Amino acid sequence: MKNILLQLDGDTQPSTFDAVVAVDSGADVMFRHGGVTPDQVAGLVHGLIFTRAPGKLNHSAIYLGGSNVDHAEQLLQAVNKSFYGPMRVSVMMDANGSNTTASAAVICGGRHLPLKGAQALILGGTGPVGQRAARLLIRAGANVRLASRSLEKAQAVCQQIGSDIEIGAPEPYAASDDKSVAAALEGVQLLIAAGAAGVTLVSKEVRASSSDLKVAIDLNAVPPVGLEGIGSLDKGIEQDGQICYGAIGVGGTKMAIHRAAIERLFTRNDLTLNAEEIYALGMELEG
Ligand SMILES: NC(=O)c1ccc[n+]([C@@H]2O[C@H](COP(=O)([O-])OP(=O)(O)OC[C@H]3O[C@@H](n4cnc5c(N)ncnc54)[C@H](OP(=O)(O)O)[C@@H]3O)[C@@H](O)[C@H]2O)c1
Repeated sequence: MKNILLQLDGDTQPSTFDAVVAVDSGADVMFRHGGVTPDQVAGLVHGLIFTRAPGKLNHSAIYLGGSNVDHAEQLLQAVNKSFYGPMRVSVMMDANGSNTTASAAVICGGRHLPLKGAQALILGGTGPVGQRAARLLIRAGANVRLASRSLEKAQAVCQQIGSDIEIGAPEPYAASDDKSVAAALEGVQLLIAAGAAGVTLVSKEVRASSSDLKVAIDLNAVPPVGLEGIGSLDKGIEQDGQICYGAIGVGGTKMAIHRAAIERLFTRNDLTLNAEEIYALGMELEG
């Protein structure tokens, strides 16, 4: 039986990138919809779950994407509401690459230091990737500082994460210039730069002089990069006594996780692959 993937994307044009990865990872047929709103989801999902016998529904699955991650989370809620008991299919949410990217960043960090008990800092932490990295790191036992240009914004996001995961919360920091970034980096062993594309968040001087820093990971591939002096292709390269990753250096792990998650969708019909599940799958790949 052919594997069908229903791609529901909030953007007007559903992502070509996501479709290519899906086809390369076991989707035989793609039904692709763009500009999808939560109220349209039930009809689209019912067409998928009521056409094949329950025992065959592992051959049908849903992928939620688009550039607006909050919108995709709303689509996910609508998808879950559209299922009827066993009449359901597995679902993956990776809007804007948020879950696979955050998972890959945390996994790359964990290759070089024990996450449990580590002090981590996420710059640009209020974005979807940074928030997910913070959640994953806290669940892995790290102490997490989450920085924004605005302390109020960081506080609001940290509070939200704390109430969502209930096992801890990141510590909010304001970081917008060399002085405040250096202060946020004090005692930090793992740095993840998750700021917007094309924005440098840390100067080479500040990073190189952060004496406790062991691993520095930059997720911004668009020049200028987020961590000055780290090349986007760098992958576990030692520089200034720190292990450094650039965005493309993390990208291989991200792509492996994305492909494995699509393959996993077709193994059963009751999976929901969101940040935590995608991270767990990435950890399986690490062996
Ligand atoms: N390799 C991949 O496949 C992949 C996939 C997804 C994402 N990414 C990259 O991962 C990074 C994070 O993604 P995202 O979607 O979470 O990012 P985002 O939402 O675009 O930005 C993250 C945060 O950056 C801060 N920011 C925005 N403009 C800024 C500016 N001019 N100066 C300083 N800070 C600024 C904002 O925080 P405050 O307003 O709170 O300061 C924002 O919440 C991006 O660089 C993205 O390109 C890579």
